[in-house]
Amino acid sequence: MTDKIPLAGVIGSPVAHSKSPALHGHWLRRHGIRGYYIPMDVARDDLKSALETLPRLGFVGVNVTIPHKEAVLALADLVSDRAALIGAANTLIFRPDGKVHADNTDGIGFIENLRQGAPGWDPVAGPAAVLGAGGAARAIVTALAEQGVREIRLSNRTRARAEALRAEFGPKIVVYDWVQAGNMLDGAATVVNTTSLGMVGKPEFRVPLDGLSREAVVTDIVYAPLQTSLLKEARARGCVTVDGLGMLLHQAVPGFERWFGVRPEADAAARAVVLEE
Ligand code: ATR
Repeated sequence: MTDKIPLAGVIGSPVAHSKSPALHGHWLRRHGIRGYYIPMDVARDDLKSALETLPRLGFVGVNVTIPHKEAVLALADLVSDRAALIGAANTLIFRPDGKVHADNTDGIGFIENLRQGAPGWDPVAGPAAVLGAGGAARAIVTALAEQGVREIRLSNRTRARAEALRAEFGPKIVVYDWVQAGNMLDGAATVVNTTSLGMVGKPEFRVPLDGLSREAVVTDIVYAPLQTSLLKEARARGCVTVDGLGMLLHQAVPGFERWFGVRPEADAAARAVVLEE
């Protein structure tokens, strides 16, 4: 019988701020798994050798964060459809046959967070309005399209990035001008801020919410602070709101399950662990 201790972790640079070690450490303890989840600061030039070496050292997989999320795709042996579509991976599985499988679970995290946080949420009840067109927006647009949302409204300060997503995803994307971003909220069933606006240390979120219907479910990927001004204002208007912390928890679930063979809960205890970090 082999008595290998399974290892996982997160590779990026910097990684010191990552909440993933606390979250996965909590799940390992909770499920009585004798494994470890380790933050690893990996420079760009060392990425290739890290991916070759880690499986040999007993790693079953890793999460990937900035700046390696795009670069790992070219180094992986297998890339999931959604990771290819998003153009980035956040989860790697080191398979027993030696192959590196790259996946992206950000979209799953986004959808699961809304399903759990807003139980009656129906993604196809109306258009979705997405603010921002960066990496997070790509994952969220992919996930919304996968859910069958027929109209995804997109607005970004740099309009060209929104247009690029339209060119890729086709006419279901409708681009709105950033200075009139408030216009896209009219009749939207789902509203999501994927920009860094409203985050601690970043400029305030100032998009006017006059057009927001009270039926809309509103979420933010910003989770510091947990209650962003977007969420507070949307709640004051009668909307159901879901904070962004759950997306972080839910995106971690599939990786842990693949690596350690147990599906962990993105529950209140997991939330508390991450909030304490
Ligand atoms: P991520 O991977 O987290 O999405 P990103 O690719 O840097 O990070 O995207 C950040 C998003 O926040 C972008 O939509 C960015 O708009 P630009 O494409 O115009 O840069 C948006 N953003 C950041 N700061 C902003 C600001 N001060 N005003 C408006 N949008 C901002």
